[in-house]
Amino acid sequence: MAILKIAKMGHPVLAQKAAAVANPADPAIRRLVSDMVETMIDANGAGLAAPQVHVPLRVVVFQAPGERSDPGLSEEERYDHTAPLTVLINPEVQVIGSAREAGWEGCLSVPGLRGLVERPAHIRYRGYDLDGKVVERTARGFHARVVQHECDHLDGILYPSRMGDLKNLIFESEAKHWVKGEEA
Ligand code: NI
Repeated sequence: MAILKIAKMGHPVLAQKAAAVANPADPAIRRLVSDMVETMIDANGAGLAAPQVHVPLRVVVFQAPGERSDPGLSEEERYDHTAPLTVLINPEVQVIGSAREAGWEGCLSVPGLRGLVERPAHIRYRGYDLDGKVVERTARGFHARVVQHECDHLDGILYPSRMGDLKNLIFESEAKHWVKGEEA
């Protein structure tokens, strides 16, 4: 295991479309994912995409712990706001319905900033795990947001280009004037 260097906004690897993984069960992918998870945890991120560690492949890792969800929600509503540590290889995201939701995002490749980003509120996603088995889930809330944010990285998209109003791009030192953000 190793902590990998994180590419920052402006590095070309973050602007390109990542390539599909030919064999999700390849041991080299398992080693990459192991290093990505260690890097994500070290950097206190909620998610990480392979291009962020200079590897232009369609691999993401993320977690959406319960404490990041809205405690006002019922148990059932809260359920798909949360996700265990998940590896998704060659992920696909499908939007369910037309509802959109604004939420604060951060990104390990855009350090020090937070931005308010509106995204589809409800999605279904599908990908492969490290054994080549299909992972398929529906997600809402922070869970849906982190999956969309990470999958955007695979298409060379960083969250600022999803923002409708750059007035809502702020330094995290000023987030105390708004609401707590997340880093992905
Ligand atoms: Ni990010």
